[in-house]
Amino acid sequence: MKCRKCKAPAEVPLPSHNTAFCRDCFAAYFTGQVEKAIRRHGLIKPGERVLVALSGGKDSLSLMLELSRLGYDVTGLHVDLGIPVSSAAARNKVEAFCRLHGLKLRVIELEKEGLPIPDVKRYINRPVCSACGKIKRHWFNRIALEEDFQVLATGHNLDDEVARLFANTLRWDAGYLSDQGPCLQAENGFARKVKPLCRLTEFETGCYAFLNGIEIHTAPCPYSGGASFTGHKRLWADLEHMSPGQKIAFYDGFLKRGRPAFARQEQEKGDPLAPCEVCKSPTSTGICGVCRLKIAVTERRAADPERQAK
Ligand code: AMP
Ligand code: FES
Ligand code: ZN
Repeated sequence: MKCRKCKAPAEVPLPSHNTAFCRDCFAAYFTGQVEKAIRRHGLIKPGERVLVALSGGKDSLSLMLELSRLGYDVTGLHVDLGIPVSSAAARNKVEAFCRLHGLKLRVIELEKEGLPIPDVKRYINRPVCSACGKIKRHWFNRIALEEDFQVLATGHNLDDEVARLFANTLRWDAGYLSDQGPCLQAENGFARKVKPLCRLTEFETGCYAFLNGIEIHTAPCPYSGGASFTGHKRLWADLEHMSPGQKIAFYDGFLKRGRPAFARQEQEKGDPLAPCEVCKSPTSTGICGVCRLKIAVTERRAADPERQAK
C-alpha cells in the first residue's frame, strides 16, 4: 500500500478515513487532528498555561509530546497512586519521558497526602476505581487552580469518548449527556478541562507513541478488571469495521445536535457550590468528597489492629 499523500510505502492504514499514510504524513495527519480539535472547540488559547495529566500510558504521553511540539506551555502532572509495584512502574515511565524531552513535571504522591489507593480499597466500602477516579480528578483541578494553570488536559481519545457517550446514551443520563465533550468550561472553582485527542482513535495514538519511540506503561491497574467500557469498545470496533467512519460521525453528531438539546434542559439544575471547609475545592456538601474519604480512611486506619501492630 502507498501513502495517499506522498506515494511512499505506507506504514499506518486508516480505514475510517479510507486512506493510509507513511510515517511523516501520519505525523502531519495527527498534528492536523489535534489542531482541528483545539480550534473547533476552543480548547486552548494562545499563551495559556496547560497542565497535562500524565498516567504513563500511550495517550497522555503522546498528547504531552504533541502539545509541546505545537509550542504550548505544558507542564505534566502525575498522580502516584501508591499501589505496590504498578504505581512505581508508571511513575518511572512518566519521569523518564519528561526528562528525555526536557518537559516540566509535577508529581502528587497519594501516600504523602494520607490517601494511598490501597488504603482506600481496604477501608472504604465502594468500588475502588470510582473513588480513585474522584481522587485523581480532585488533584487535577486542585493543582490547576492553586498553581495558575488555565487549562487541564487529559489523554482521552475518540474510543474513550464514544464508549462513554454510548454508555450515557444507553442510560439516557441527561446530566452527563448535557456536558460530555472535549471541553468543559471553567466555572465555580473548576479549571477548564480539555481532551485534545478526541478526534484520534486508540490505534492512532498507539501508532504515534510507537513511531515516536515513546516508552509507555502498558500494564493494566491491578485493581481494575481491565480497561473501562471494554465491552462497548468491542461493539464499536465491530461497527467501525462494518462501516468505517461511524465513530467520528456519532461523536461529531452528538456534539453538534445531541449535546445542545440536553444542555438546555439541564441548565437550571445543580446545587450551589462553595469552597470545601478543609481544602477549598468546590463542593456542595461543606466538606468535599475527597476530604471526607481521607477522614474516613484515617479513622479506620487508626482503628485497624493490624496497622497498630506495625
Ligand atoms: P484513564 O481513565 O485511566 O483511561 O485515564 C484517562 C486520562 O486521565 C489519561 O489519559 C490521563 O490524562 C489521566 N490520568 C489517568 N491516570 C492518571 C494518573 N495517575 N496521573 C495523572 N493523570 C492520569
Ligand atoms: Fe485507580 Fe486502578 S483503582 S487506576
Ligand atoms: Zn476538600
